Amino acid sequence: MAEGAADKIRVAVLISGRGSNLEALAEYRRTADPAYEIVLVASNVPDARGLVLARRFRLETWARSHLGMSRDAFDALLDAELRRHDIELVVLAGYMRLLSPTFVSAWQDRILNIHPSLLPAHKGLDTHRRALLAGDLEHGCSVHVVTDGLDEGPVIAQARVRIAARDDPDTLAARVLKEEHQLYPRALDAYARKLLEERADGRTRLV
Ligand code: GRF
Repeated sequence: MAEGAADKIRVAVLISGRGSNLEALAEYRRTADPAYEIVLVASNVPDARGLVLARRFRLETWARSHLGMSRDAFDALLDAELRRHDIELVVLAGYMRLLSPTFVSAWQDRILNIHPSLLPAHKGLDTHRRALLAGDLEHGCSVHVVTDGLDEGPVIAQARVRIAARDDPDTLAARVLKEEHQLYPRALDAYARKLLEERADGRTRLV
């Protein structure tokens, strides 16, 4: 086991963009004693704003553009980096790239994602506009375990917001994002706690 608290689950956060969820996940330890420790922030976009935030939190970063590489080749590099850091749980936070089936199956039950809709409604992109167009009365965000299908896999936590008549995609997105920042650290903490219990029982399936 590499350096770090043995009573924490070693997490890598994968990002592609602004990193506000990463920030919420990193901030959480200021007010709580989470069961996770962010050991690595990895990105497929070398100039992602989230990397700047990561460095501000003194988190180790790894950035490599996927351009010109096959999905399998890029994910193999990423996989090697995660293993080099003894990562136990992969947390997608605005990671705008599909993971290869090989990667997803190697990390089965060890990848979480946050999606800005009340899954199973509105998988994919542009969820806020689609919720408004559908005439939904409520919208929100979901944390789920990642499986092969896009935005599929068991939902472990959700937060709801009411849609107001005056909402447009931007106002709705802003309210949902606020909820994401509350939901994700708590959902990750609970999931990591469960993994720690499994580890204590000797039930942990090492990746
Ligand atoms: C969030 O809305 C998240 O739900 C989605 O991508 C966005 C990432 O935002 N998967 P940020 O990079 O965390 O600010």
